[in-house]
Amino acid sequence: MTIYLNGQYMPVEEAKISVLDRGFIFGDGVYEVIPVYTRRAFRLAEHLRRLQHSLDGIRLQNPHSDDAWTNLISELIARNAGEDQYLYLHITRGAAKRDHAFPNPPVRATVFMMSSPLTVPPAALLQSGVCAVTAPDNRWLRCDIKAIALLPNVLLRQMAVDAGCAETILIRSGSNNEGAFMTEGAASNIFVVKNGKLLAPPKDNLMLPGITYDVILEIAAANGIPHEVRRIAVAEVFAADELLLTSSTKEVLAITQLDGKPVGSGKPGAMFARLHGLYQDFKRDVMRA
Ligand code: PDD
Repeated sequence: MTIYLNGQYMPVEEAKISVLDRGFIFGDGVYEVIPVYTRRAFRLAEHLRRLQHSLDGIRLQNPHSDDAWTNLISELIARNAGEDQYLYLHITRGAAKRDHAFPNPPVRATVFMMSSPLTVPPAALLQSGVCAVTAPDNRWLRCDIKAIALLPNVLLRQMAVDAGCAETILIRSGSNNEGAFMTEGAASNIFVVKNGKLLAPPKDNLMLPGITYDVILEIAAANGIPHEVRRIAVAEVFAADELLLTSSTKEVLAITQLDGKPVGSGKPGAMFARLHGLYQDFKRDVMRA
């Protein structure tokens, strides 16, 4: 595996960073995960836009222009085996004497990228769907930043694994007159299907604006699939006909069991089948263009 670190490509075993790196000490950094199909980064412009949003959110200057990122990424893809890869980009505020406040003057940001083989969910999982559990969303109020500080997500996701499931669906307690509502998964976005309509939570500060989430809504709009973006009450999650999970590495998956009870019929439904098919077509068209 060839990785990129601060201007150089090298075998992963040779890569070293300082123990004073603020990513290591404080989790002071942001990241991106970008799927690569047939050696081309999928939706790169959108991923770079979200990266800029994350960097702005933590007040860290982007170390590269979009053109420079594009070149670095192309080189990383070329240096790694596999037609389909997934890229991990990681930028921290650099190495400095330990102090919570930003280093002044600023130090060089640490830029790390790696590529791993992309394995999309196998056919058996698409046919069976996956199970999920629910848990209170105890994260901070800037979940729109793709921060490397993922301890809440790590603990929440482990709850699913401990239950033999694939994902934890997060429930934010409401404030004032508002009841509890769903935000997203520990490492994915979640859609609800009810009476043939696709429901998506709004992209606000309480969820990560998923690139796959956007693609799904674009596909729904382009194909006349009824859809609505709005807050989804917790009761609607439990009364769903279908639940869908999306992410760059999982694409689209049906959640067929929630907290041990079947979702709808307990089998992947018609909306899943339609959207999964359309997503594959969309991918193919984008990659061909
Ligand atoms: N995670 N919400 C959270 C909290 C996530 O971590 C992710 C993705 C998503 C989906 O976003 P996208 O469609 O852009 O992948 C939503 C990645 C895959 C990860 O951390 O590995």
